[in-house]
Formats: sequence, C-alpha cells, structure tokens
Amino acid sequence: MRQQPKPDSPKPVVMIVDDHTQVRRALLTWLSGTFSGAEIITAETGEDAVALAGERRIHVALMDIELPGIDGIEATRRIKAIAPQTRVIVLTNHADQPYRDAAEAAGASAYVLKYRIGTELEPMLAPMLAEAIDDRRSGISNAAGATQDSAHGRDAASLDEAVRQAVGLRLRDQDLAQLAAWKRERVRALALSGGNRYEQLLAEDSVGARRERELLCERFTTGETYFFRDPGQFALIREKLLPEIIERRARQRSLRLWSAGCAAGEEAYSLAMLVDELAPQLAGWKLQILGTDINSKALEKARAGVYGQWSFRALDPGRKQRYFRARGDRWEIDPRLRRLVGFAASDLVHDAFPDPAVGLSECDLILCRNVFIYLDPAAIARITAKFAKTLAEGGYLIAGHSELFGHNIEPLRTRVFAQSVVLQKTTEPPGATDDRLTPAQLPAGAAPAPPPLPRRVPLRAPRVQKAPQANPPSAPAVGFDQLLEQGWRHANRGMPDAADEDCRKAIAIAAFDPRPYYLLAQLAQERGDTAQAKTLLKKVIYLDPSFVAAYLELGALHEQDGEDERARRMRQAARRELGKQPANAEVAPYGKSTAGEVLAYIDRLLDGPAKQAARGVTGTAVPH
Ligand SMILES: C[S@@+](CC[C@H](N)C(=O)[O-])C[C@H]1O[C@@H](n2cnc3c(N)ncnc32)[C@H](O)[C@@H]1O
Repeated sequence: MRQQPKPDSPKPVVMIVDDHTQVRRALLTWLSGTFSGAEIITAETGEDAVALAGERRIHVALMDIELPGIDGIEATRRIKAIAPQTRVIVLTNHADQPYRDAAEAAGASAYVLKYRIGTELEPMLAPMLAEAIDDRRSGISNAAGATQDSAHGRDAASLDEAVRQAVGLRLRDQDLAQLAAWKRERVRALALSGGNRYEQLLAEDSVGARRERELLCERFTTGETYFFRDPGQFALIREKLLPEIIERRARQRSLRLWSAGCAAGEEAYSLAMLVDELAPQLAGWKLQILGTDINSKALEKARAGVYGQWSFRALDPGRKQRYFRARGDRWEIDPRLRRLVGFAASDLVHDAFPDPAVGLSECDLILCRNVFIYLDPAAIARITAKFAKTLAEGGYLIAGHSELFGHNIEPLRTRVFAQSVVLQKTTEPPGATDDRLTPAQLPAGAAPAPPPLPRRVPLRAPRVQKAPQANPPSAPAVGFDQLLEQGWRHANRGMPDAADEDCRKAIAIAAFDPRPYYLLAQLAQERGDTAQAKTLLKKVIYLDPSFVAAYLELGALHEQDGEDERARRMRQAARRELGKQPANAEVAPYGKSTAGEVLAYIDRLLDGPAKQAARGVTGTAVPH
C-alpha cells in the first residue's frame, strides 16, 4: 500500500521504501524526530515508490534492495529516469560489493548499511534536506498548473538543455542544483523579467549574452593549467611534430600555432619556449603563436605574463631560469616570449573560425587540451569541424588524452604516437600510402607514416570475443559491461581516478577478462607510467593472446624505451594474430581499421624500426 498523492508540501519530502512494517515505522519515528522540518512518506514496494516519484517531488528516497516485485535497484533506476533530482540512498543489510556497484550504476547517490543509520545516514541527509529547503525558498518550483515537482524537474532539464545548446557545457548531475542557483542569481542581478528570459539570453548574439556565456564557463569549468602540462605531448611536439612542420613550411618560412582554451597562457608560452629553442632553424621566419580563451580575466593574466610558483610545477629549472625573471615571489616571462605570443578572447563554441582577420587560419598546430572535457558532444563536433577548416594541410590538432575518444572527428585522421594520440588534417584518401611521410623523407626524429587510418577515435573498450568470464558476476547480475563503459566514459572525461576505480570494480566481477586491464594500461600511459602500462599490457596478452592492440601498444612502448628487438617481437605476434582474421574484419579498438589495413601498417613498422633505430628515432605511430 502506498500513500495517496497529496499536493506538494512546502517541506522537503523523504520517502521510505521498505516492505517491512517495523522497519518503516522505526525509520519514520527516527526521521520525524531528527528532521522535523521534513515530510516523510512511505512506500512498501518498488512499483509504489516509482509511482510516487512520478506524481510528486521527492527529495530523498531511502531505498531497501529486497522488495516484492521490482527490487530496490530497479526502482532506483526507474526513479532516476523519471525524476533525476530525487536522491536515492540505498539502505540495506547487503554489504557485498556487487550490490553497491549495481546501486551506483542505477544512479543511487549513496549506499548505507542499516546498522549505520545513526553514523552515516544522518550526516548525509542533513545537507540534502537543507539544499531542498533552499531550493524551495528561492522559488524555483513553479506551482501553477502541474505539480511543483514535475515543474521543478522540467525547469532543471530545460535549463540544462539551454546551457548545452547555447554554451556547449555538459554539466554533471551533481552540478544541476548549482546551475539552478546560478540562474537565480543571474536573473536577480540582471533584473530579468522571468526564468525563461535567462535561457533566451544565453542563446543571443549580443555583448550581454556573450558575457553571460563567459560567466557560465568561468563558473563551471576550471582554468587549471601550468607550463608544460603533459611533458609527453610537449616532447612529441618538440621532437616530431615541429620538425616535420618546419620542414613542410620551409618555403613559406612561416609557422602558426594556436593554444585554444589557453586559460592564463602557460600553454601558449610553453609553445613559445619550444619555438625559441628551435630558433636557429627559424631565423627570418614569420612566427605566430596565439592563445585564446573565453575567460577575459584569465587572458589578462596571460598578457601580464607573471606567474606564481604553482604554474612551474612541471617546468624544468633550466627553462625557468632561461625564460623568467623573478619579481618578488612571482616570475615574469621574458619579454621576447611575450612578444611572440598574442592573446585574444574567443568562444570556441560560438565564434566562427577560420578567421584570417585575427590570424585563425592555416594553422600548423592547434593545441586544445582540457577544454573538451567540459563540453557536450554536439559542441565538440562543431568545434572540431571548425578546427579542421582552420588547420593547414598536414596541420595537427592535439587534445588532452582521450578527450576525443568516441567523437566523430571525420575530416581529421588519427595518428597515435607512444606519447599521445594526435589528429592530422590531410586530404589524402584513406588507404593511400602517405608518401610525404615515408621514413626516408622524414627529418631525423620523426615518426613513420601512419597506415590507412580510421576516421573515428575509438570510444569503447574493445570487444574481445574470446574473453573468458572465469568469475561470473554474482547477483545482482548488472555490473561488468556497465562498469567498463563507465570506466571509458570517466577516462574520456578526464577523470582517471574514477576510471581506475571502475576498472577495479569490473575486475572484482570478472578477474580474467582482459578489457579492464587494457583500460588500466591506457590510464597508466596517460600518467606517464610506462612500466606499469607494460605490465598491464602483458597481462592483457596473457589473458587473451589474440588481443592485437595490446601487442601493438606494447611494441610502441618497447620501441620508445629503445627495446627494438622486443618491439619487433610484439609486432610479429600482432601480425600472426591478425593473419588468423579475415582481411576485412574490424580490429578492436582501432575504429574502422580492418585486419588487412592494420597488417599493412605492421609490415611497414617491421621494415621501419631498424632504419629508425639507426637514425635514433624514439617513438612510433600506430593506427587508431
Ligand atoms: C582547464 S583549462 C585548460 C588550459 C590549458 N589548455 C591546459 O590544458 O592546461 C580550460 C579552459 O577552457 C576555457 N574554455 C571553456 N569553454 C570555452 C569556450 N567555449 N571557448 C573558449 N574557451 C573555453 C576555460 O575558460 C578554461 O580557461
């Protein structure tokens, strides 16, 4: 039996979902005494709980797992689908990890064991209910017509959608309450006539609208940056990409580099240092380095070029000494470098580029790192399409590791080096041998040509048909695939710790499936832990000797460490495994690359290492 729906009370609502009368009563008594400002309602079954959540705004649901009919996990999933703002706290006697994982996957905010109600539930509930009271006081709910609850949900959803459309920001569920509060603040500050006016304003093409978009980005992204953030990518730029670009530009004698989303300028100045270090080759060249960002305060700092110690955490002391002058406890960039770099405001989502008038065209290199992590896929697609048009033929786009995994970067080709995936603009048809980049023609230190490349950076964990499931998941049966997908999503969103955690949970369910180890290996590579990456890739191969990508990546890491013979053995093994597959079979996780294409690529690599070793090449490109 569930309670009859009532008109919404002005109080925050807590729903107890438990089929045991005694438990419901005990909880009701405890909650009424502890949170006297809340309205407490109860449901005996999962179905009733879902129905109530559809009828009225429930702020927090305390959900038992074992229920008649649908269980608490399924009820949680359904409630989150129809009322995403409802926080579900699973309250159970099941301590087992699979239940916790299932609850998390279903969207539960927390998992509390019943005997820990006093110690865990109480401190957790207090801020949730305080937040609910805040929301109500500030009147975001709309009482006219439909119930407050559904209007509240609709408001939040339409605000979120408006922000996605106009600003490109993809907010996490946990940010939505802050977004609503932010909107209220802006509606007040701008004295807007109503809530919808704010959404309209965001989409407009006026100075005021631009400012609102900027403020939103400032509020919901971070400007975290430092010099030579990701040393591997900068080494790649210095040792391979810039030399290649310089050779290509030898006739025009011009170089144009763009740090898009540069924050306070450390990234753009890092490029300037690399260019300065190549100065002997660049005498008489026209050098342009541009840093852009939506955040005007960050750009002011960039123009000033004065930095605190925190910005130098990855900069080697030699460069710091060479390019900075102490100014009290801060450091000022060498005026020569400051002159080399121009800074300008630009909204990557809204602004049109290429824009030759401001130097945003025919770029040789675009660095756009740690920006896509905040953006919605549609915005990312718009930006990468504009980047593609803004690059010169042969020019490179570098994003943060895995930021573009799974996104359609259609006009660009992927090249994967041991240090990083990069994207290249080339009009050469896929499948054609890239003569311009044959090893013989490359400058020393450059990588061999990539094979015919897929047009899409892989998103998902590779599907390994033969993956043994030695430890079948225990009840509830949800888990492994969701965790793995979630792990890749976390990795793609720049949340390596969460991705790591997902992998470990997946391994707890199926310890002999190679896929979580493969993702862990990617994470290890991303943080520069080559030794760990090698160990993990070996484990992948041990678990699934047909896992071609693991051989290739291990080969690239061996080559990077100067272990050419090992690299060769790995590639031979990959070739052997690929030989067992039909030539047109797709090779996971290399997007649409077929076994035949990857084989051709490996053949070139197997030809290449000896020659490259002779020239002192340290990295390689593998297909993605
Ligand atoms: C974490 S910082 C990245 C700084 C630097 N690229 C790095 O990796 O160290 C992200 C920057 O992206 C900027 N940003 C976010 N959305 C943007 C947009 N639509 N247009 C331009 N810049 C944006 C933010 O203002 C912020 O400065």
